[in-house]
Amino acid sequence: MGAILVFLILSIFASPATSQFQSSETGFISAVISEKGLVFVKDLLIENAIQTLTSLTLPDIHQSKKIPLIGGVSASLTNITVYHIDVPCSTLQTGESGVVVAASGVTVELSMNWKYSYSTWLLPIEISDEGTASVKVEGMEVGLTINVENQNGTLKLNIAQCGCYLEDINITLDGGASWFYQGFIDAFKDKIRSTIETTITKKIVEGALKLDSLLQTLPKKIDVDKVVSLNVTVVNGPLFGNSSVEVDINGLFIPSYDGTVLRYLNKNPQLSDFCGGEVKMLEISLDEAVFNSGSVVYFQAGLMNWLVDKVPDQSLLNTASWRYLIPKLYKKYPNDDMVLNITLSSPPIIKVRTKNIRVTIFSDMIVNVLDFELRFLLHAYQWRFWRLGFLRFRNNLAGSAQLDDFTLKLKWSEVGNFHMSLIQV
Ligand SMILES: *[C@@H]1O[C@H](CO)[C@@H](O)[C@H](O)[C@H]1NC(C)=O
Ligand SMILES: *[C@@H]1O[C@H](CO)[C@@H](O)[C@H](O)[C@H]1NC(C)=O
Ligand SMILES: *[C@@H]1O[C@H](CO)[C@@H](O)[C@H](O)[C@H]1NC(C)=O
Ligand SMILES: *[C@@H]1O[C@H](CO)[C@@H](O)[C@H](O)[C@H]1NC(C)=O
Ligand SMILES: *[C@@H]1O[C@H](CO)[C@@H](O)[C@H](O)[C@H]1NC(C)=O
Ligand SMILES: *[C@@H]1O[C@H](CO)[C@@H](O)[C@H](O)[C@H]1NC(C)=O
Repeated sequence: MGAILVFLILSIFASPATSQFQSSETGFISAVISEKGLVFVKDLLIENAIQTLTSLTLPDIHQSKKIPLIGGVSASLTNITVYHIDVPCSTLQTGESGVVVAASGVTVELSMNWKYSYSTWLLPIEISDEGTASVKVEGMEVGLTINVENQNGTLKLNIAQCGCYLEDINITLDGGASWFYQGFIDAFKDKIRSTIETTITKKIVEGALKLDSLLQTLPKKIDVDKVVSLNVTVVNGPLFGNSSVEVDINGLFIPSYDGTVLRYLNKNPQLSDFCGGEVKMLEISLDEAVFNSGSVVYFQAGLMNWLVDKVPDQSLLNTASWRYLIPKLYKKYPNDDMVLNITLSSPPIIKVRTKNIRVTIFSDMIVNVLDFELRFLLHAYQWRFWRLGFLRFRNNLAGSAQLDDFTLKLKWSEVGNFHMSLIQV
């Protein structure tokens, strides 16, 4: 049953918080990022921005001024490097078509080299002095508004606005006759301020564009194995709620190979609905059509066929065990090993109900005794999974399944009729 389980146990993490939004095209998988999830995303973005900005070098600043009595003074600030950023407070708010991320009370610490030179009519030579300086910015505000839209089946980010504002900036000079120049440096505050503001804004916009190009590289289908892929084309959204974002993707399995056009069994608009309870960051709802589309692809690929020659109790695969049940079989082939050839006659039908998934399988089984093929059995068995309440993302999934109902019917047999009721458990 490997193939079936592989796709069944794919990702079921459905939630009661399904669609509060209207959809124009049917998405069979819908993902809702909750408020908690958005906070997580925001923290991740800010963490990333801090890492990018720390050790950032700002453009050098050169400035000349004529100062009465003294003459022409030129100053240069070089190697202006950010070495520490602290973001004590940040928020993410959803709007109609996007999100606003804002950080306030940000502290930025920078180091730089300063150099002053001036020539005056009092002295025949140019005088210069230099040293290092530390700059502390407090109460900086940064805001970024990003619109997100569905462009051709992938999410596209558009930066609507990005701003950075510094409240206060303190510059402390060290080295040289720094006490003397401390007064002059304040004349360059505005220049330093605007350089910091422009550079940080530019870097944040660059980061958002990088995020966008990352989104553009996301595939529209994910190959699950050589047989099936999942169509992850975005069909709806993103739809922004007050504190959540919903994205609907097509979510149906399609053949990985150049396959035939498929028609899915049940296009049931009812979304699966299990695992309520604690607040999750990401809630994913799957329509049962997702499972059925997988079932059809595997079936059409001819993979719903198993040869069973090993079972936990190996004696069951010997005609001797069937002596009383099918006397003619034992008589014809005494003490011979058997191999079961199980073939599904149609794709399994999967119905998703609250707390469980019911799978109905119609199969034929051919029993091979040694090299003789002898056909009997079996029709229609139905089983049901209980509590598919598991789910961890990536390839690590676990769940429990239980056989609920099992019906066998003898279609025809080369070894005479026998009582199916004896086999059923
Ligand atoms: C520039 O500043 C950084 C950080 O303070 C320092 O490590 C580096 O040596 C400086 N480079 C120059 C050329 O002063
Ligand atoms: C800047 O200096 C002023 C006065 O010296 C002080 O009141 C203020 O707290 C300082 N700000 C920073 C960011 O250090
Ligand atoms: C949408 O996707 C199709 C197929 O991938 C492509 O041909 C078309 O140019 C895309 N349109 C836009 C607006 O990106
Ligand atoms: C969103 O908030 C507004 C005002 O706070 C409220 O009227 C509306 O019902 C909320 N919508 C949802 C989907 O929670
Ligand atoms: C994937 O889903 C999109 C959106 O529903 C649809 O237009 C497209 O045809 C699907 N791709 C395949 C290969 O079925
Ligand atoms: C198993 O049964 C299928 C369908 O009846 C048949 O096509 C296939 O050849 C059989 N395989 C073996 C190994 O007997």
